[in-house]
Amino acid sequence: MEDIPVDKLTKEEARAELARLSGVMRRAEDAYYQQDAPVMDDAAYDALKARNLAIEARFPALVRADSPSRRVGAAPASGFGKIRHAVPMLSLGNAFSDEDVVEFDARVRKFLSLEGPVHYTAEPKIDGLSLSIRYESGALVYAATRGDGEVGEDVTANARHVRGIPHRIEHAPEILEVRGEVYMEHAAFEALNARQQAAGEKPFSNPRNAAAGSLRQLDAEITATRPLAFFAYAWGALSAPLADTQKGAIERLADMGFATNPLTVLCESPKALLAQYREIERQRATLGYDIDGVVYKVNDLALQARLGMRSTTPRWAIAHKFPAETAWTRLEAIDIQVGRTGALSPVARLHPVTVGGVVVRNATLHNEDYIKGVDSKGAPIREGRDIREGDWVEVYRAGDVIPKIRDVDLSKRENPHLYAFPTRCPVCGSAAVREPGEAVARCTGAFSCAAQRLEKLKHFVSRQAFDIDGLGAKQMQAFVEWGWVADPADIFTLRARHGDALARREGWGATSARNLFAAIEARRTIPLNRLIFALGIRHVGESSAMLLARTYQSWAAFQAAMIAAQPREGAAWEELNGIDGVGEVMAASVVEFFHTASTRQMVDNLVAQLTIEDVRPPDTGGSKVAGKTVVFTGTLSRVTRAEAKAQAEGLGAKVSGSVSGKTDILVAGEKAGSKLKKAESLGVQVLSEDEWLALIAQTR
Ligand code: IVH
Repeated sequence: MEDIPVDKLTKEEARAELARLSGVMRRAEDAYYQQDAPVMDDAAYDALKARNLAIEARFPALVRADSPSRRVGAAPASGFGKIRHAVPMLSLGNAFSDEDVVEFDARVRKFLSLEGPVHYTAEPKIDGLSLSIRYESGALVYAATRGDGEVGEDVTANARHVRGIPHRIEHAPEILEVRGEVYMEHAAFEALNARQQAAGEKPFSNPRNAAAGSLRQLDAEITATRPLAFFAYAWGALSAPLADTQKGAIERLADMGFATNPLTVLCESPKALLAQYREIERQRATLGYDIDGVVYKVNDLALQARLGMRSTTPRWAIAHKFPAETAWTRLEAIDIQVGRTGALSPVARLHPVTVGGVVVRNATLHNEDYIKGVDSKGAPIREGRDIREGDWVEVYRAGDVIPKIRDVDLSKRENPHLYAFPTRCPVCGSAAVREPGEAVARCTGAFSCAAQRLEKLKHFVSRQAFDIDGLGAKQMQAFVEWGWVADPADIFTLRARHGDALARREGWGATSARNLFAAIEARRTIPLNRLIFALGIRHVGESSAMLLARTYQSWAAFQAAMIAAQPREGAAWEELNGIDGVGEVMAASVVEFFHTASTRQMVDNLVAQLTIEDVRPPDTGGSKVAGKTVVFTGTLSRVTRAEAKAQAEGLGAKVSGSVSGKTDILVAGEKAGSKLKKAESLGVQVLSEDEWLALIAQTR
């Protein structure tokens, strides 16, 4: 079939050819990266790659989730292959109180502009790790962990050993990605730990870690000896809908042979949700597996689709968490850590104590005020009780987050001295300055501070950033200490400068060094959003980096706009500050970053080493408004402002809050005022609400 020119392929031939190319290229990648024994030369590989791309360009609907063009890098010899999720894996917003749940329901109804009740499902939140399993024509094709939500690890071989995951399914859509939680029951966990201990191995600290460690085994035979289970609760890509409701979809998955949670019920009001929460909480201790809350989901799937999602969480679901577990212990010392932005963070060193099944040795103390017993507005916390070294403190953990300190027992206090927060950086000795209105003190040493430099580099290679296999915090620290790496660009010249020396270093050796350099090479090509996040610009987190990448789409456009932008004036500033989700503080921070000579130099050196992938805006299905900048003004009557905005973004438009020369469309509702005038004076296309809805309805 290789000889059939791409423009002559039928759809069926194209489908088969894409499947074949995916397999051939995966084997070639394995041979190259894992066995160091290439089976084809670069030119032959590139020809396959080009053919694959050409077929995908002709038949976009046939692009495979495991297509070589979406593959993020072959499996390094030391780890798992990576799989880009066809539909991102989301996380959930949290509710901690009954009021939060009532507000969630109110938010949902407000967004949809509904007076009447919305129905929800309520089900346990399983404390395991999420997994996405893809079926094509009823056969399990692959399984991937969540990873960063966009790209996960290929654990297909292991997933076949998990109870509750069928290998073949009947009466399923052609393409079906089932999502759910892999977990370990208490009894299996106890038995596994007994075996670990008998074999002289370290026991797992809790069932969740045991499940994660067991699923992420390179040797699937080991996974087979670890009794893992699965509950299906969601789905990703689908070629046909499963049902009209959440409850109906879960029932269909159960019919196909997936394990689903028996405590899933339909609730018709927030009051009913809270009653089910109490009921699940009551059963918690006897379920036989760990849960950490209850998840509520809008039942009607058409309403779920209208509600859509924020950058990483859906608007139609929320996790109502159980209260955190706590324990009392002695605070042995307060240490100060210097972060990548210079923030001085006090850390409590604790006498080790078990909280909710996990041994805790450190906890955050947030900042100077928190230690003193006042909040950011100067109001007392812990009724004003301060915290001192030597105190008895109450530690708590909520979910995965870093442990915190809730309270202090004054009756056991022996230390007469208030804690004195340092005024100098404990690492470089530069002044530590606390700006007015700021809670944190910052080291003013910037790149000359060894701690800040190291933290910036660790951030650079962290999982959501460059995620270089085999280059974690420990290795980075060593490279910095040896004087091999001072700037991000140095990572990409490391092989040329110190490749031979590394292979001879104790604890390394030729194989580890080769694997590391292969992993570094694999990351020379990086998506724009990851690069922006990796730069460590203050106030720019993972989802803001994605927003910026989707707005500017290419590095060249992003950099040019940031260099053109002046703080608080001009078109480039307006565009940046107009991005929904980018506030003034973040915008100013990004502009400052690109206007500082030392960071500019660092960035230029780095970019010279990289191939930066443009970020494709989300799939907009041929929308008429993709890439357009839209401003809504006035009162809309048929949808809420929030829904209009979400809809436009879903179709690939950028929604901005202010009218400028870059605005393409102004949608003017009732009583539109100054924005309408400005749009008219700039010659921007103005649409009524009905005209706008008609325009987006043309989208196919
Ligand atoms: S729904 C789009 N349902 O909790 C919503 N998640 O904090 C996808 N989780 O990443 C998630 N039990 O790993 C959902 N019954 C449940 C769950 C559940 C556990 C996990 C899941 C998710 C995390 C979010």
